[in-house]
Amino acid sequence: MSDDIHGGKIREAATALGIPGDELLDFSANVNFLGPSPRVVAAARRAVGEMGWYPLDPPDPLRRAAAGFLGVPQERVALGNGASELIFLTVAHLRPRRVVVLGPTFTEYERAARAWGAEVDLVFAPEERDFAFSEEHIEALAPRLAAADLVFICDPNNPTGDLWDRRARDTLISICARAGTAVFVDESFLAFTEVWPGGAVLRRSVSSSEGSSEQVIVLHSLTKILTMPGLRVGALVLPEALADGFLPRVPPWNVNCIAQAAAVAGLEDVELLERTPPAVTEARIAAIARLRGIPGVARVLPAAANFLCLRLAAPGAREVAGRLRQQHGILVRDLTDFPGMGARFLRVAVREPADNDRLIKALAEVLAGIAADAFAGASVATDCSLGIGAAS
Ligand SMILES: Cc1ncc(COP(=O)(O)O)c(C=O)c1O
Repeated sequence: MSDDIHGGKIREAATALGIPGDELLDFSANVNFLGPSPRVVAAARRAVGEMGWYPLDPPDPLRRAAAGFLGVPQERVALGNGASELIFLTVAHLRPRRVVVLGPTFTEYERAARAWGAEVDLVFAPEERDFAFSEEHIEALAPRLAAADLVFICDPNNPTGDLWDRRARDTLISICARAGTAVFVDESFLAFTEVWPGGAVLRRSVSSSEGSSEQVIVLHSLTKILTMPGLRVGALVLPEALADGFLPRVPPWNVNCIAQAAAVAGLEDVELLERTPPAVTEARIAAIARLRGIPGVARVLPAAANFLCLRLAAPGAREVAGRLRQQHGILVRDLTDFPGMGARFLRVAVREPADNDRLIKALAEVLAGIAADAFAGASVATDCSLGIGAAS
């Protein structure tokens, strides 16, 4: 399982462990722990009765609801079978020759760009700055940004968890605007960071920043905020100039009838949507404080979303993830193979406090176990070198 490119592999882990999936506690996928809303579940159940019919196409009620949630005109909204479909559709539409990806970040941007034959310039922010880009760094990258047709950023960033510095983001957008480079801002986790409604999602969104409308494309994953990764809905906010060309290229019926009904119901559950950011923030702050106290956790990166990135004191993220899975039935995201991260990094979702408690206790136990094994190994090695090892 070490070469997984995504978290959320509950079925695979359950099969490997020979247990039912619902006996696992999944911290590897970052979905809203308050959901799915009972309204979403009820709407999805009702829609099962309609699966013998084609879905609404175009899916106007969902488009209206998504546009209302995001505070943008519905003519500029495209819907996808999850946000990831919209990443691929964007690249297919723009057919960029050269793409810049500012990371470490979600790997599907690079995958989509390469799949469509683009050359990819992958730029990593320095680990000393918790992998965050500063305004100065972005200014220094100006020639590379200007040489690209499309630039991807993720805000808040996955897997690191924090929002982009607003000056760095806006500088990037101005550089790209001057150069005619399109900017793709993935705000799939933004709704976890703000109090909604009242335009608050928009206040932090790039959609509301001055002069950004011409060449900036914004992605939201409703899958995550509505806790429906198995059903999947994403929404793309396109600049006016791109919308007319993009929308006819979205395949018909790409959002199925159950996902449409569930997402409309979820977006109507304003109470749950409003409750999410403060609940996530409270749970995150409590989790950070306790994770920081675990021996073997060197750093918890600053975060604004519903997941945290941990740097371990020593390489061994794979071992830690493996023991959590085997010994505790807990899934976390091992970032060993994640481009730009490495063997010291893990990502964990923020879940409800009782679950976070289980994770924190299990992680402390696993790290203590690894330290004890290493100590025992070191003593055996020392003894062996003296010719008095246990094995002799
Ligand atoms: C930053 C980011 N964007 C998009 C997606 C894809 O979202 P969806 O499940 O709606 O396709 C993910 C999924 O993990 C993600 O982390």
